[in-house]
Amino acid sequence: MKIAIVGTGNVGAAIARGLAGKGHDVSLGARDPKTSAVTRLAVETGATLATPWAAAQAGDIVLLALPWAAAAAAIADLGPLAGKVVIDCMNPLGMVDGVLGLLVGHSSSGAELVQSLLPEARVVKTLNQVGAEIMADTSRLPHRPAQFMAGDDGAAKAMVANLLRDLGFDPMDAGGLTKARLLEPLAMVWINQALLRGKGRDWVFAAVTASQR
Ligand SMILES: NC(=O)c1ccc[n+]([C@@H]2O[C@H](COP(=O)([O-])OP(=O)(O)OC[C@H]3O[C@@H](n4cnc5c(N)ncnc54)[C@H](OP(=O)(O)O)[C@@H]3O)[C@@H](O)[C@H]2O)c1
Repeated sequence: MKIAIVGTGNVGAAIARGLAGKGHDVSLGARDPKTSAVTRLAVETGATLATPWAAAQAGDIVLLALPWAAAAAAIADLGPLAGKVVIDCMNPLGMVDGVLGLLVGHSSSGAELVQSLLPEARVVKTLNQVGAEIMADTSRLPHRPAQFMAGDDGAAKAMVANLLRDLGFDPMDAGGLTKARLLEPLAMVWINQALLRGKGRDWVFAAVTASQR
C-alpha cells in the first residue's frame, strides 16, 4: 500500500517507525524535506521524502498528522485528494477557558471539518486516541491495544483496519464519521490521564472480553 504521511513530527514519525518493515511504500510529506531530522527518519524507516503535496498525490492512503491550527491551510495545499483514503489523526485542541480542551465537539468534530475541506476524499478518524510513542511500537504491550475508527466509507475503513493491524492495534469500528464526536473526547480522556493525572504516556486503551479467558 502507498501511504503518505503529511507532517513528520511526533505522530508522523511514530507511524513511519511503526510501519517500517511492514511492506508498505511510505512517503514522508515534509515542508522542508532537507532537514536532518526528516532525512534521518527516512533513512531509519526506509521511507521516501517528498513535499506534502507530492507525497499526498502518490498515496493511496494519506495520513494527516498536523497541528490543528495549521490543518486547514495545509489541507488546502494538498488539493482535493479525490477518492483517496484520508486518515485524520488530529485532535482539534486549543485553550478553552484557560485549559487544554477541544475546540469542536458535541454537534461536529474535527474529522467532519476535515471531510468538509476534502469532500471527494474518504476520511477516516483514527490514531488520535493514544500517544505517539505507543504508535511507534506496540510490541512491548501485554495486550493488543484498541484503536477505534470512524468513517462513512466501509471499504476505506477496511483498508485502515489493515493498517492498524500492521501497527499492532485491534481495530474497532465506531460507525460513521459523526462518531468522531466520540473519539476526539476519548483522546481527551487519554490526555487527561497521561498529562494531568500522573499516569504518564506509556499506556493505551484495550478491549477485553470474557470469552478471551
Ligand atoms: N503527539 C501525540 O502523542 C499525539 C497523539 C495523537 C494525536 N495527535 C494529534 O496529531 C497531530 C500532530 O501532533 P504532533 O504531536 O505530531 O505534532 P508536531 O510534533 O508538532 O508535528 C506537526 C508536524 O506538522 C508539520 N506542519 C505544521 N504545519 C504544516 C503545514 N502548514 N504544512 C505541512 N506540514 C505542516 C510540522 O512540520 P515542521 O516540522 O516543518 O514544522 C510537523 O512535522 C495533532 O493534531 C495532535 O493533536 C498527537
